[in-house]
Amino acid sequence: MVDYKVVGSVAFLEVNNPPVNALSLSVRVGFVEGIERANKDKAVKAIIIIGSGSTFISGADIKEFGKPMRGPGLVEVGERIETSEKPVIAGIHGNALGGGLEIALFSHYRIALKNARVGFPEVLIGILPGAAGTQRLPRVTTVPVAMDLIASGRHVAAPEALKYGILDWVVEKDLPSECIKLAYNIIGKPLHDRRLRNRPVTPVENFAAVYDAALAKVTRRSKGFIAPVKCLQAVKAAVTAESYAAGLKEEGRLFMDLMKSGQARALQYAFFAERATARWQLPTGENYKTCKPLPIKTIGVIGAGTMGSGIAVTALRAGLSVTLVEQERKFLDRGVAMIKSVLEGSVRLNKLSPKAMQKSMSLLKPTVSMDDLRDVDLVIEAVFENLDLKKQIFGKLDKICKAETILCSNTSSLDIDKIASATERPGRVAGMHFFVPAYVMRLLENVYGKATSGTTVATIMQLGKKLGQVSVLVGTCNSFVANRTMSKYGSQATFLVEEGSLPQEVDQVLTDFGMPMGTFAVGDLSGLDIGWNIRTEIAKAQGMNLTFATRYMGGDQYSSLSDRLVQKGRIGRKVGKGWYKYDKPNGKVATPDPEVTQIVLDHCKELGIQRHKISPQEVVERTMYAAVNEGFRCLEDGVAAKPEDIDVCWLLGFGFPRYQGGPMFYASQVGLRNVYDKICQFHERFPNQSIWMPS
Ligand code: 3HC
Repeated sequence: MVDYKVVGSVAFLEVNNPPVNALSLSVRVGFVEGIERANKDKAVKAIIIIGSGSTFISGADIKEFGKPMRGPGLVEVGERIETSEKPVIAGIHGNALGGGLEIALFSHYRIALKNARVGFPEVLIGILPGAAGTQRLPRVTTVPVAMDLIASGRHVAAPEALKYGILDWVVEKDLPSECIKLAYNIIGKPLHDRRLRNRPVTPVENFAAVYDAALAKVTRRSKGFIAPVKCLQAVKAAVTAESYAAGLKEEGRLFMDLMKSGQARALQYAFFAERATARWQLPTGENYKTCKPLPIKTIGVIGAGTMGSGIAVTALRAGLSVTLVEQERKFLDRGVAMIKSVLEGSVRLNKLSPKAMQKSMSLLKPTVSMDDLRDVDLVIEAVFENLDLKKQIFGKLDKICKAETILCSNTSSLDIDKIASATERPGRVAGMHFFVPAYVMRLLENVYGKATSGTTVATIMQLGKKLGQVSVLVGTCNSFVANRTMSKYGSQATFLVEEGSLPQEVDQVLTDFGMPMGTFAVGDLSGLDIGWNIRTEIAKAQGMNLTFATRYMGGDQYSSLSDRLVQKGRIGRKVGKGWYKYDKPNGKVATPDPEVTQIVLDHCKELGIQRHKISPQEVVERTMYAAVNEGFRCLEDGVAAKPEDIDVCWLLGFGFPRYQGGPMFYASQVGLRNVYDKICQFHERFPNQSIWMPS
């Protein structure tokens, strides 16, 4: 809704639609009524639009998208503002985003607090600023700036927006009184030139070249996304159309094209899915509403390897004090050097000030003694993946740490209940599974065991937020939800190579689908020896002798193809050869290797596998549906609470193409019936692969 208040000769229209003042139906109606009322009120000489609470207006109400449009549309509301006979000032604090910035651009003047931010993030949810934003922005700023802001979705701070001409004034404080001052200055002044529709687009030299350069940049940066290109086309319409009205019409057409696209649906789903992960619930019924997090100021990190140091960086950047523990001084020093170099990198990229870096380093307390963890609020153990070692550490921590300390393991696969059993405080034990590198990857898989309390979960979920991660809560099980579903996708890829594809062919299909890397390229990056070590451990535990002829483990069909590569020393990028060959050890240039093709062919011959041609469609279906079926099993088991949680794991943990929403959302778009039928067919074709038992 929009509150109406008159102060002297000025009417305030204050948007009051928490939490972000989105432009819902009641707000749009409120604007139309407020402008009418102020124009009729003889005492009012100027109108100020302002937001209540912490922000101006964050855009259209995304929840209304896809539903029949009710009440006045945003363009209609904006035009009512622009044609107001009395001057309208937008007073911006917090955010003016999307439709919020469009409302400001329909207003005759724009004034903002210094720490306000403006931007057009529509492109990130698969659409474009469809309430004249693409037509009006190039009338206040240059065409290249307009193209950049609209096609990237980047928000800019008020001083930068002032420089671009988007804002007229920036003030330090007292926004309402500054707005009133401005209002008294402009009362009675002509409005014709302040109405952006009357202004020409800012002249641009050699527009064709400017446009081509912007298009090339966008195509490179946003491969597979359709909205960024349409954003540029809409700005182009502002430049080339014969009138403002004609440009607006073209913007409307492009907007509707995007709105109807599957990509917009997927991206908007992803926006809400990331936020839905915060609404967690335990099987006991305890949930995000009923449990209060404990305050965390100091944390301990055990292990200063890549993982531990990465976790320390995220915690230091969030202003937490970190006690970093290693067994030996030389490993500790190496970890500290790594932390310092990452923070220095952030300073070089202007993401951190030198002062903030100094502060972070002063919060780091490296030590070789676990006793120094006595007073910390929470510990994250990040040592080698070995259950006995972890149990030993947790047993020690239980004795050293104060009774309230929460003990977490960064394990990527081990049973949290078994780790908790080494302590007298299983309610305060949980998993916090970060992805490498922890200071870049935004996914945090928080894991609860049977005894983990609601307070512990509330605390680690809150901590994840503080660290800037998106936390997904999952139950303990082998490999948890992200890696558990991913492993099924990966093992299908290997079967496909055994049956007839080559690694580079499978990878090509997966990158065409939108994955940032193919699964074999990822395997090379992680190191093929890791899987090999795990498999030999499992085989040992089952009393098996693992050979290349082994086709079954734990009763499930298995491919020994990657083991052959490991045996030939092809353990991945670090040695310059794996599924691909590389320009050098740790090199980035991967090329298909005829030697691998030969290994594959020999393997098939030896095992009597008849190779055949496999279509790209089958590659997508086999890999994706395997992940989807396992995703549904995670829901069945209760280790994942909702499909959104699984999708967020894939979006943020594995770079699943956001415009496909996530594997579960993708399946819903293909049609669950179709996916189920295909899974049943695969089950018939591959009765020995347990993954195809339909969930
Ligand atoms: N519509 C509906 N709900 C919205 C919303 C929107 N535009 N923006 C945020 N919300 C909801 C969130 O879903 C969340 O709900 P929840 O608490 O029930 O999960 C709540 O508001 C708070 O949001 P955040 O948790 O994201 O709060 P933050 O303070 O971290 O961030 C924000 C605030 C920067 C505004 C962020 O929410 C954001 O980026 N929102 C989207 C902005 C956007 O895309 N605007 C353009 C909309 S499209 C448009 O305007 C079309 C027009 O051009 C025609």
